[in-house]
Amino acid sequence: MFLKYKLLLFVIITLFSYLGHNFYAQSSPSTLIIEKKIDSLLEIMTIEEKVGQMNLYNGFWNVTGPAPEFGGAATKYEHLKNGWVGAMLNVRGTEEVNKVQRIAVEESRLGIPLLIGFDVIHGYKTLSPIPLAESASWDLKAIEQSARIAAIEASSAGINWTFAPMVDVSRDARWGRVMEGAGEDPFLGSLIAIARVNGFQGDYLTDANTIAACAKHFAGYGFAEAGKEYNTVDVGLSTLYNTILPPFKAAEEAGVKTFMNSFNDLNGVPVTASTFLQRDILKDGWDFNGFVVSDWASMNELISWGIAKDKKEAAKLAITAGSDMDMEGHVYINELADLIKNGTVDVKLLNDAVSRILRVKYELGLFDNPYKYGNKIDEEKRTGSQAHHESVLDMAKKSIVLLKNENNLLPLKKEGQTIALIGDLANDKSSPLGSWRLASDDETAVSILEGMQNYKGNTLNFNNGPEVFKGTSTFLKELDINTTDYSGFKDAIETAKNADVVVMVLGEHGFQSGEGRSRTNLELPGLQQELLEKVYEVNQNIVLVLNNGRPLAITWAAEHIPTIVEAWQLGTETGNAVAQVLYGDYNPSGKLPMTFPRNVGQMPIYYNYKNTGRPTDKDNNVFYSHYSDVDKTPLFVFGHGLSYTSFEYSNVTVTNTYGSNSEVTVAFDLKNVGQVTGKEVAQLYIRDSVGSVTRPVKELKGFELVELDAGETKSISFTLTEKELGFYNNEQQFKVEPGDFKLFIGGSSETVLEANFKIE
Ligand code: BGC
Repeated sequence: MFLKYKLLLFVIITLFSYLGHNFYAQSSPSTLIIEKKIDSLLEIMTIEEKVGQMNLYNGFWNVTGPAPEFGGAATKYEHLKNGWVGAMLNVRGTEEVNKVQRIAVEESRLGIPLLIGFDVIHGYKTLSPIPLAESASWDLKAIEQSARIAAIEASSAGINWTFAPMVDVSRDARWGRVMEGAGEDPFLGSLIAIARVNGFQGDYLTDANTIAACAKHFAGYGFAEAGKEYNTVDVGLSTLYNTILPPFKAAEEAGVKTFMNSFNDLNGVPVTASTFLQRDILKDGWDFNGFVVSDWASMNELISWGIAKDKKEAAKLAITAGSDMDMEGHVYINELADLIKNGTVDVKLLNDAVSRILRVKYELGLFDNPYKYGNKIDEEKRTGSQAHHESVLDMAKKSIVLLKNENNLLPLKKEGQTIALIGDLANDKSSPLGSWRLASDDETAVSILEGMQNYKGNTLNFNNGPEVFKGTSTFLKELDINTTDYSGFKDAIETAKNADVVVMVLGEHGFQSGEGRSRTNLELPGLQQELLEKVYEVNQNIVLVLNNGRPLAITWAAEHIPTIVEAWQLGTETGNAVAQVLYGDYNPSGKLPMTFPRNVGQMPIYYNYKNTGRPTDKDNNVFYSHYSDVDKTPLFVFGHGLSYTSFEYSNVTVTNTYGSNSEVTVAFDLKNVGQVTGKEVAQLYIRDSVGSVTRPVKELKGFELVELDAGETKSISFTLTEKELGFYNNEQQFKVEPGDFKLFIGGSSETVLEANFKIE
């Protein structure tokens, strides 16, 4: 009787909210109503149903992690019917999604709809550049638009939750997942995190073409020791607060609905079991009221880490620490109900976790209409549209970085030239899709060869050269890099010999970076370096087009090859973007979001390093901070990138009114001193000269992407406030410390203008 009454109440509230939703279709449901609905739903849920909400099952195939010991499709279907599943991942396409959603909504007792998660990392079907490449655009509007398009396509295929943005700051190019983030800088990374969250979540989460975002991997994963995947992380609180956490905090402030915890341990505690990170910082410190999902099976991994003796203990540690949802670990679903019933785990923890999950479902409007995310017609119309292709092409062009252009070899002349195009990757329609492309059809990228073929005024002679890898390439397995088969060398050299310009496309395959793909060698893989040197012997007019998901150590190339273009993996429209830049139909403006090293031994290398007590060689002896065998400077610095025009910075002025209104204003002039229109990312860095703790030599605190016609000058200004001038001290207090500051302005972290100011 009591249960019936509660059920009736729940139905009435849901009905009211449904009517309300139609009345105020564009406004987000009021917080108060949602909280009431959560409370009344919690009252009628059994412990098993509550635990069910905390259970995230993979679809019916295994993707990025080991298969669970038990829990095949039959069990999953049964659990869906029982209301023991809160969310699923890797179920996609409206047909498939609606099938599982229908079981949850129509066959389970309470009909609570499912979250449908997916790794929509840089596009769904129409792929944008890999996130690191997008970050090289420093174009926040374009990055937001890219996430918007990804959300439109994914939502039309039934997905309502993406496991993105990945906001891990990393200084170590050995770590394969740097391709998935925004690079090494917390300031740039924070702004990009906000842009991506806004793009995915849109203005109204209740809209059918917006999806919940997930800031991952919280936290420290980018600092995996020695760049080795899934490795231990041991960092001090200063690095944690000043470098690792800012993009997460920015995402939280932008309203991101979910967080994913990270596989690593942090200072001895695996994050899934870290109360410090998940409760003290995230939930209590930042008032985050969404939920935290574990990474794939990371609850089970508490056993391998050696802090839980069995799954029972793992479940207890995880829920106590604030991990709300178990991704394909089968730990909560199998252990948690008993732990609650026998009093080992407080039911308050259960209710808190479930409330958080239900909140996101309400905020998405899933209870109003669980089937609103797409239908077959929408899905076909929206995925892969012409407009989306144009948009990812635009993003791809903006992501390209011109690293070097001696003798103005670029842009290429459009007529009367013989161009040799060389490299296995130039003819590859799969590699440009990167490693996160689960919903995209294979071989659907425009190859660089195809892009170049659109320009008909020259003679284009293509030669593959040696293969980059042998066999097949897949998301799950290591690539078998070719280090022995030299066939292709002779013909490639022959093709290069008589060309006016040789365009060589070399670098990493898309499946050489990403999850599970750490490397200890950052040079061109396989036989490609040898090929480059052999071609150079017969023709030095080389344009090297790099494909890669991380900074590479291309020291020989940087010394010998006149022109180098960083073209990453640029997604579906790769070939068109590269060709338009090479032929000058698009003037490149990308800037590196990560430092390029001279060799792998310099890892980790980053621009905002500490000066040390012995920064320079004063007495011509060895006792200063350096290496004996290689220059300590980078090969290409953070923020570097050229254009077909050039820019001049002048007239810096500082207006310091910090004492009265907590602001310092900086102004300067930027002039396009070249012959063509171009865009420049003007960058502002500061240095807190004397601090209570050591401070970085430079920190990015402002940038603006400016377009200028040839000869045009623009005055640019930035305002620095507490937010830019302060930092976390070793007591984790955010403070602006009085004293002397320097500021630096320029087109890269190797700045050209300098000024000083003082905070009294
Ligand atoms: C990755 C996550 C990803 C998840 C689901 C894990 O292996 O670390 O970033 O979202 O798989 O595919």
